[in-house]
Amino acid sequence: MATVTRRSLLASAGALASTRALGAPRSAGLAPASDFLLAPGLVYLQTASLGPTPRPVLDRTLEAWRELEANPTYLGYGALVEAMEGVRAKAAALLGCAKRELVLTRSTTEGMNWIAEGLDLQPGDHVLTTDQEHPGGRVCWDHLARRRGVALDVVAVPPGENDAAAIVSRFEREMTSRTRVLSFSHILSSTGLRMPVRELCALARARGAIAVVDGAQAAGGVAVNVKSLGCHVYATSGHKWLLGPKGTGLLYLSDDVGDRIQPIALESGRAAHSDSSGVTNIPGVLGLGAAIDYVSGIGFARIEAHNLGLRNALFERLAGLNRIRLMSPPPGPLASPLVAFELPSTVDSRVLQTRLLANHDVMVKRVPKVWFNGNRLSTHLFNRNEDVDRFMSALGSELR
Ligand SMILES: Cc1ncc(COP(=O)(O)O)c(C=O)c1O
Repeated sequence: MATVTRRSLLASAGALASTRALGAPRSAGLAPASDFLLAPGLVYLQTASLGPTPRPVLDRTLEAWRELEANPTYLGYGALVEAMEGVRAKAAALLGCAKRELVLTRSTTEGMNWIAEGLDLQPGDHVLTTDQEHPGGRVCWDHLARRRGVALDVVAVPPGENDAAAIVSRFEREMTSRTRVLSFSHILSSTGLRMPVRELCALARARGAIAVVDGAQAAGGVAVNVKSLGCHVYATSGHKWLLGPKGTGLLYLSDDVGDRIQPIALESGRAAHSDSSGVTNIPGVLGLGAAIDYVSGIGFARIEAHNLGLRNALFERLAGLNRIRLMSPPPGPLASPLVAFELPSTVDSRVLQTRLLANHDVMVKRVPKVWFNGNRLSTHLFNRNEDVDRFMSALGSELR
C-alpha cells in the first residue's frame, strides 16, 4: 500500500501544474483558492468529514487565542464570553431561530448526546431512526436502549432510494403509541440522500413525538431554516460545511420543547459559558463566528447551487462507468452535495481511497463497510469543475 508523504504530495502537485497548462481553463470556485491552506495540488472532496478552514477564519481563531492569553481569567470570564454570545446570535441567525434557542457545542455528536440524555425516556418508550445514521447520531439512542430499556427501531432507507413519500410511509408504519422520538439525518452520511425532513417533522408533531434532526451534513453546504423544517431539535457541526475550527458545533432546541429536554450541561441555561457547561473552547467559538461570516458572506443559495452543480456533474459522469454502482439519488429533490458509489467486490474501497490520494492527490471518503464497499465525494464552495475532471481521470486510471 502506498504511503503519502508531503514530498509525494508536492511532487505530484508539480506534475499537475504542468498538465494544467495543457488542459482546459480552470473554472472558479466561489472563493479564491488562496483562501485555503490545502496542500498544493490536492483535490479535496471530503468536506463532509472535515471542512478546510479558510485563512481569515483561522486568523481570527488564532488572534482570539492570543488575545485570551494576555489575561486568561479577565478575558476568558469577561469580554470574550460576551463575544461568544455574539457568535450564538450569529449561529441562531444562520439556522433561522432565536438566540435563546441556540446552544454552542463541540460537535454534532455532543449535541445529539445531550438531547438523548436530557429527554428522560422511560423503559419501553420508543425511538425510531433510520438504518443509515452516522454513529454520531445513533450511539446516543443505542446507549438509551442499553442503559434505560428504551425500544429502538430503524426504518430502512436503502442505497438507491429516491422516493420521499415511501420513506415517510415507512416511518408512519413503524410508529406506535409509545413512539417518543423520530431521529434522522437531514442528509444521510452514507449516500447523501436528502431526507424529507419537513414531512417527517410534521408526522412527529402530529403524533406528539419529538423530531430530532442530525444536520451534520447540511448546515453550511445547503440552506437550512429550522423553523421551516419544523423540527424540535437540530444538531450540526461547525467543522464540516461551515468550515469552522475543529471541535465546534451548533444545537437548536426549539422553544416549544419546554422542559421536556433537560441535559445536565444545560441545567444553568444555554449561554456560551454557564455553571453547568463550564469553560468552553473560546478561540474555537470565536473562530466559528468568523466562519459563519465567511460562508454567509458568499450566501447559502449560491453555495447550494454551486455544490449541487458540481455534485450533479460527478453523478452524471459516474453514471457512465460500468464498474461502479451509484448509491445516491439522481439529480433532483433528494440529491445533496454528497455522492457515493459502490465498487466491484474485487476493489477494496480503503485501498482505492489510499491510491487516489497517493497517486493522484485526490482525497475522498471510504464509506464504512457496514454500509457498502464504496467511496463518497462531497463538493463545496472551494471546489471547481477541474476537481471533477481530476477525480474522474484518477478513478478511471485506478479502475482500469
Ligand atoms: C450525519 C452525521 N452525523 C454526525 C456526524 C458526526 O459529526 P461530529 O464529529 O461533528 O460529531 C457525522 C460526521 O460525519 C455525520 O455525517
